[in-house]
Amino acid sequence: MSKSLTIRRPDDWHLHLRDGAMLRAVLPESARHFARAIIMPNLVPPVVTADDATAYRDRIMSTLPDGMDFEPLMTLYLTEATDPADVAAAHASGLITAVKLYPAGATTNSASGVKNFDNVRGTLEKMAEIGLPLCVHGEVTDAEVDIFDREAVFIERVLDPIRRATPGLRVVMEHITTKNGIDYVKSQSDMGGTITTHHLVINRNDILVGGIKPHYYCLPVAKREEHRLALRAAATSGDAHFFLGTDSAPHLDELKEHPCGCAGCFTATNTMSILAEVFEQEQALDRLEAFASLNGPAFYGLPANDDKITLTRGDPVNYPTKIDTADGPVTVFDPGYPLHWHVA
Ligand code: DOR
Ligand code: ZN
Repeated sequence: MSKSLTIRRPDDWHLHLRDGAMLRAVLPESARHFARAIIMPNLVPPVVTADDATAYRDRIMSTLPDGMDFEPLMTLYLTEATDPADVAAAHASGLITAVKLYPAGATTNSASGVKNFDNVRGTLEKMAEIGLPLCVHGEVTDAEVDIFDREAVFIERVLDPIRRATPGLRVVMEHITTKNGIDYVKSQSDMGGTITTHHLVINRNDILVGGIKPHYYCLPVAKREEHRLALRAAATSGDAHFFLGTDSAPHLDELKEHPCGCAGCFTATNTMSILAEVFEQEQALDRLEAFASLNGPAFYGLPANDDKITLTRGDPVNYPTKIDTADGPVTVFDPGYPLHWHVA
């Protein structure tokens, strides 16, 4: 008899849907399995104001194919010019679920991010007051800090000071890639942490040994094996601090396979099958629902989804290696092993 597992429909607490032709191609890949997703605002230009978020939400909903059910949970991109009143109004109307902090220069389209944290103090204090979570890209950008240390240094130099200065601010440390990040989030009662699918699978050797693998390059970059093991332990523990945020981040192949390749792994298509494989390897299939479907809504104060998905173990699933967009192909993340879990 084949093994199967029925869980509440999962959500993705960190997703890049982009816009235009890319949005059209990738939205069904997420909507097929996920009920809701926190939508990243790093478009060009970024989603900064409530009006920007309304327009982007409308573009997403008008792109959603008939018969698919999906709720985009919108975010605003925090800049030094963000108006706390605009943020508060967007929250009060139910338009936004979080605000996103990119340190300026940390990653794709982060040029409008924050350089001087004193200039966002008013917005952060307003968010603490109204209970609106801050999603944080946790990497310092200082040229002298090694790329593999940027997350750990960020916790000490930026994240912990901001949280101390803003009591009550609820923070999600996103796409955690280090044991340092896991330990910090675990020790804080009012924090959440997202973990991506790909960081549970690859370490830095997978990017660099035997030739450079551009489709494994993302930010924060995958770290050494001991960190991957800490992420797997946290994700599969059931600990309510940790939930799925795929950071599925599509880029055209021509921009990944490039002398200056873009950061991002595209995992929307096969994430649930990969996670089932990972949780099975860790003998933690009974905790997949907590990670993918329960802990995230609990952090955000939202109900878990009522509908269910069923994962069934069988012959390897034939996922496409690439999906097509009107502008060219996007490579689907390859975990490096067959995926046996079918999602329905
Ligand atoms: O790898 C990444 N890609 N990390 C990010 O933080 C941004 C994302 C993107 O937008 O491509
Ligand atoms: Zn991201």
